[in-house]
Amino acid sequence: MDQPQNRVFSGVQPTGNLHLGNYLGAIRNFVGLQDTHECIYCVVDMHAITVWQDPKELAANTREVAAAYIAAGIDPERHIVFNQSKVAAHAELAWILNCVARIGWLNRMTQFKDKAGKDREKASVGLYAYPVLMAADILVYRATHVPVGEDQKQHLELARDTAQKFNNDFGAEGFFPLPEPLIMGPATRVMSLRDGTKKMSKSDPSDLSRITMRDSADDISKKIRKAQTDPDPLPETVEGLEGRAGADNLVGIYAALAGKSKAEVLAEFAGAQFSVFKPALADLAVEKLSPITNEMKRLMDDKAYLDAVLERGAARARAIADPVIARVREFVGFI
Ligand code: AMP
Ligand code: TRP
Repeated sequence: MDQPQNRVFSGVQPTGNLHLGNYLGAIRNFVGLQDTHECIYCVVDMHAITVWQDPKELAANTREVAAAYIAAGIDPERHIVFNQSKVAAHAELAWILNCVARIGWLNRMTQFKDKAGKDREKASVGLYAYPVLMAADILVYRATHVPVGEDQKQHLELARDTAQKFNNDFGAEGFFPLPEPLIMGPATRVMSLRDGTKKMSKSDPSDLSRITMRDSADDISKKIRKAQTDPDPLPETVEGLEGRAGADNLVGIYAALAGKSKAEVLAEFAGAQFSVFKPALADLAVEKLSPITNEMKRLMDDKAYLDAVLERGAARARAIADPVIARVREFVGFI
């Protein structure tokens, strides 16, 4: 079985409220990899159900993430777009890898601690095993590169450790490549607009904390206007943003949207008050996001098209995953 050198895999959970962090930290980078890599982009519905999802909303949210991928510029003809639950190989490999990964590794996962909260006894078993399913997602395609936001770095390390241990345990040297995280751009960790020390997230109860991929131009402007900052003007250097989480976040968002570095943005806006910078950021955000939002809306109205994309993508995904699973079964000794 030959090993591809440039195969990308990544996923986004269909848990609603797709936001600017998902776009700048992940989806936009997915788009940029299409000319140099063979890409597989998944809507990870099996990860989503690790916390309760209303079944109707799950279906709608799955189509929404697919629409966001396509509206952002992912070409589902050249590359693969599908939803995870359609390809049984993910679940099959996840079980085998559950028997390879160690409880001690999972106990170190900070995302589980955050998501499970205080009452850990009541968290689903799936939430705990989540990183192993993620490892299976990647390894079942023997993917080499994984574009993600900063928050997924620890999960990627677990995927690498799991791949390495499988290769060692089963005398399968080099069978699973150790996947490389691609954490790219000036907005790998977009923060809440209400609290610059907290990650922008789908589950924040405050809608003002995030710009979503459904927001109108007015919503975007309002949320940026209300974003938490401080009374000082923008500094001249990136070092000057230290200790100013809200300001740092907005400069990072501007940089990512403009395709510039934070230093370049500060060269332009040094000394400016937020009363000047915020409207400039709002205009830029509307200019960059509105075409995507509009195209997403159009696609969401064409359910048949989206479902056909996901179905075809799944068939192509299975064609890659099935021979890998067949080989894994041999390594393990299943007859
Ligand atoms: P999720 O919403 O957890 O399915 O995340 C999908 C992708 O978006 C992953 O690659 C995350 O790392 C990325 N992501 C989620 N939240 C943020 C954020 N606030 N800033 C940057 N990237 C993010
Ligand atoms: N855990 C990722 C997140 O919440 C989503 C995800 C699932 C993923 N499987 C993946 C990302 C495989 C990259 C590769 O952000």
